[in-house]
Amino acid sequence: MRFLEIKHLAPEHLPSAVELDQLCFGGIWAIEGYRRELESPNSDLLGLWTWETEDYESVQNSVGTGTPPLQVRAPTHHPPPLQIPPMLIGIGCLWAILEEAHIIMLAIHPQFQRQGLGQALLLALLKSAHDRQLERSTLEVRDSNLAAVSLYKKFGFKEAGRRKRYYEDTGEDALVMWRSGLEKPEFQQYLTVEKVQMCDRLHQKKWHWAIDD
Ligand SMILES: CC(C)(COP(=O)(O)OP(=O)(O)OC[C@H]1O[C@@H](n2cnc3c(N)ncnc32)[C@H](O)[C@@H]1OP(=O)(O)O)[C@@H](O)C(=O)NCCC(=O)NCCS
Repeated sequence: MRFLEIKHLAPEHLPSAVELDQLCFGGIWAIEGYRRELESPNSDLLGLWTWETEDYESVQNSVGTGTPPLQVRAPTHHPPPLQIPPMLIGIGCLWAILEEAHIIMLAIHPQFQRQGLGQALLLALLKSAHDRQLERSTLEVRDSNLAAVSLYKKFGFKEAGRRKRYYEDTGEDALVMWRSGLEKPEFQQYLTVEKVQMCDRLHQKKWHWAIDD
């Protein structure tokens, strides 16, 4: 079974965060940058982890073809499950500034994109913003980043303007997007409905949440 978990990053996760940052963005922050986020009370730095376990029965089935016709006695001691250790495959960060949630970072490891994990992490950031009683969320995104723009629009973000030649490397414009109404009770219901749909989709792709809350 392959499992997923979203939780706040801790100091021991920072080397993996830097690696993922390098892979997804070419290196926005070095380890000191991540450490600053951990220390800031106004920052939520979330990670998405996956790992796999294989239970005894599925190992037996996969070995399978030579199963004797008569099972004389069930083994009394199962070997420990096979494990693939946790791997950080997503990272998201928001800054709480006054009543606004600034989404500073959102990324999914390239090998795991297009499975619904980006929206799982975005939902977790929006839930954090709601829990902090923030009212609006905003972000900047490259004009050409159709995947991200489409993801944000799907969650109610609207284009509110652009910052000309914002990105130094390409001279591209940044779209400025906003999502309001985070503090309203109906937003809590919205999150619940979206979460159910997101979980259904992930389940179809054989992902399981380690903890259901
Ligand atoms: C943007 C990003 C986080 C999306 O993650 P993801 O796990 O692939 O996204 P999901 O599978 O959850 O997709 C959710 C929605 O995003 C949009 N989307 C994601 N990838 C897309 C693509 N390649 N083309 C068009 N739309 C896309 C769709 O609206 C999709 O909904 P749908 O599947 O119902 O069509 C991921 O592409 C990424 O990490 N990119 C590199 C880092 C980055 O650019 N971050 C954004 C900085 S602002």
